[in-house]
Amino acid sequence: MLINLWYVAEWSKTLKDEPVKVKMLGQNLVLFRDDAGKAHCLSDVCIHRGGSLSGGRCIDGNVACPYHGWQFNGEGQVKYIPSEGRDFKIPDRARVDAYPTEERYGMIWVFLGDLPEEERPEIPPFPEYTDPNWKAITDEWIWKAEAARVIENGIDLAHASFVHPVFGYPDTAGDNEILKVEKDDMNGMSWNVQYPPQLKGELGLRRFIRKDRQPTETIPGYHMSGYVVRIQINLNEKMNLLMFDCNTPVDEHTTKTFATQLRTFFKQDMFDKGSRKRLRKVFREDAEIIERASPNYLPENLANELSVQDDRFMSSFRSARRRLIEKGWQIDSYTVKQYEGRKVFAIPSPLRRTHPDLKWVMEEIPLVQPAASLAIGEREALS
Ligand code: FES
Ligand SMILES: [Fe+2]
Repeated sequence: MLINLWYVAEWSKTLKDEPVKVKMLGQNLVLFRDDAGKAHCLSDVCIHRGGSLSGGRCIDGNVACPYHGWQFNGEGQVKYIPSEGRDFKIPDRARVDAYPTEERYGMIWVFLGDLPEEERPEIPPFPEYTDPNWKAITDEWIWKAEAARVIENGIDLAHASFVHPVFGYPDTAGDNEILKVEKDDMNGMSWNVQYPPQLKGELGLRRFIRKDRQPTETIPGYHMSGYVVRIQINLNEKMNLLMFDCNTPVDEHTTKTFATQLRTFFKQDMFDKGSRKRLRKVFREDAEIIERASPNYLPENLANELSVQDDRFMSSFRSARRRLIEKGWQIDSYTVKQYEGRKVFAIPSPLRRTHPDLKWVMEEIPLVQPAASLAIGEREALS
């Protein structure tokens, strides 16, 4: 799991006037809104006696711990300790980590890391979200699988002919073609042609959209920021489908996908139910495969899986991920696990970096040193 990326924590509409608990990168976090309605994200662990802040309440724009009522503001500072009275000088170390939080596309995005603002990657663009030509539905899905495996599955077109009957026939798998791949350090996109079967359903209307084995343009992409998979399917010039899936690592072997699916046709609400049903069928078909894949985690040593020419787009994602691991941004899950139940770590927040003189109650989460990452990968491959 990688720090220093944006991840989607929750749908905006879910966060109202009570704190909400979320788990990301194996850490418990609390979301809450201040008096102005701005969303904040803090470590969920109270530095007093370990209370879970998300079990508390929002008071005066702060979140109050349910145990002894200490109140934390959106920057993670303790503002009030009820047992000590209003005149009490709050101790210097009385704060928890607070993470940059933005609301975009109906979702709450949290930057889990300590990079200063100018060094943070962008939240991925999603212009179709507000474009009236597109009609959106949203859904979510929880995978018992590592996020990197989920992303690879999302951008892998070769599996579609085998796993998803709606996308192709096994006997024409060899006809599918990658036309082009474009990538930079943090993003990739690929243009492909596939020959899927005729569409079915919706009073027989859909079968007029796509004939059997009609060449169909499919454009998968990924953004490391938000662990987003974006797939556009152009059924014809006017009829397009788009998936925008934010794949949040809940912990090492659990991933929560915040999915938005858009279409440029059948835009009436009455077609939403069918869209959601088809979306869930695809998720279910994928889950059957990736929840059983071994190892559970993407091998760090890429030589431990054999890639072919048709995997080159997926390999570009592997390389992008590898580069972030080499920056030392991977959580050392082996060490964290050793302390399970005995010690809580904090993902470092930007304040730790901008104010190195500050003292903190909670220790920073251990990260894999770049030189050690391959050795760990080998350990993973052997375990
Ligand atoms: S544990 Fe949170 S106030 Fe005591
Ligand atoms: Fe799939």
